[in-house]
Amino acid sequence: MNAAVPVIAIDGPSGSGKGTIALGVASRLQFHLLDSGALYRLVAHAARRDGIAEDDETALAALVRRLAIEFRGRADAVSVHLDGADVTLAIRDEACGMAASKIAGLAAVRSALLAFQRGFRRAPGLVADGRDMGTVVFPDAGLKIFLTASAEERAQRRYKQLKDKGFDVNLRALLREIEARDLQDTQRPVAPLVAAADAVVLDSTALTIDQVQDRVLELAAQRLISASGR
Ligand code: C5P
Repeated sequence: MNAAVPVIAIDGPSGSGKGTIALGVASRLQFHLLDSGALYRLVAHAARRDGIAEDDETALAALVRRLAIEFRGRADAVSVHLDGADVTLAIRDEACGMAASKIAGLAAVRSALLAFQRGFRRAPGLVADGRDMGTVVFPDAGLKIFLTASAEERAQRRYKQLKDKGFDVNLRALLREIEARDLQDTQRPVAPLVAAADAVVLDSTALTIDQVQDRVLELAAQRLISASGR
C-alpha cells in the first residue's frame, strides 16, 4: 500500500494553468508528476492511429490495456512515448484535446486507466493534475486544489502556449473550443469536472504563475509536509 505517500491533486478546466503549476510544484518538492490529461490524449491519438471510433467503448478500453505508455525524462523535459514513438507534440493540438474529452466520457476507458494512474503514487510524493484527481483517482489526497480562470484568460494562455510550440492558432477559435470542452467536461455523467468538496478553489485569472505556485506550496507546507514530519 502506498497510502502514506503524500499526494497534491490539482484539478480544473482546460487552460487554467494546472500543468504549469503542477510541474513547478513537483520540481520544488522533488515529487513525481502525473499529467493525467496526457493519458486521455494518448488514447485519442492511438484510436485515430488504429481507426477506432471515438464512441466504441469496448474497443477503446481494450486499446488502453494494450498500449505501452512511457513518460521519459524529468521536470520540464518530459517526453511522452506511445508504443515506442515519441508523440509529445502530436498529442498537444486542440483536435486531440477535443477527441480526448469525448473518449474521457466513457466509463470503461476511465476505469482501464485508473490503476495505471494510481501507480504514479511513489515516495517521496506525487503532484497529479487533471479533472478528477481529487474526486476519483486520489480521493484521500492531502491537498486538493481546484484551479480556475475565466475562459478568455485561459484562451489567451493556451494561444501563447501553442504559438510558442510552433502551432498555427487562432484566438477566437481557441476560445470557442475551450468553451465547448468546458461544457463537455462539466456535463458528462461519468467523472465530470467538479471541485472536490474539500478542495481549495484558486481563481488564477488575475494572478501570476509564481503567485499561484507560492500559494500551493504554502498550502502544501501547512497540510501535508508538516503532517508527514518532513
Ligand atoms: O488536461 P488536458 O487538456 O490535457 O486533458 C484533455 C482532456 O482529457 C480533457 O478535456 C478531459 O476531458 C480529459 N481528462 C479527464 N480526466 C483527467 C484529465 C483529462 O477527463 N483526469
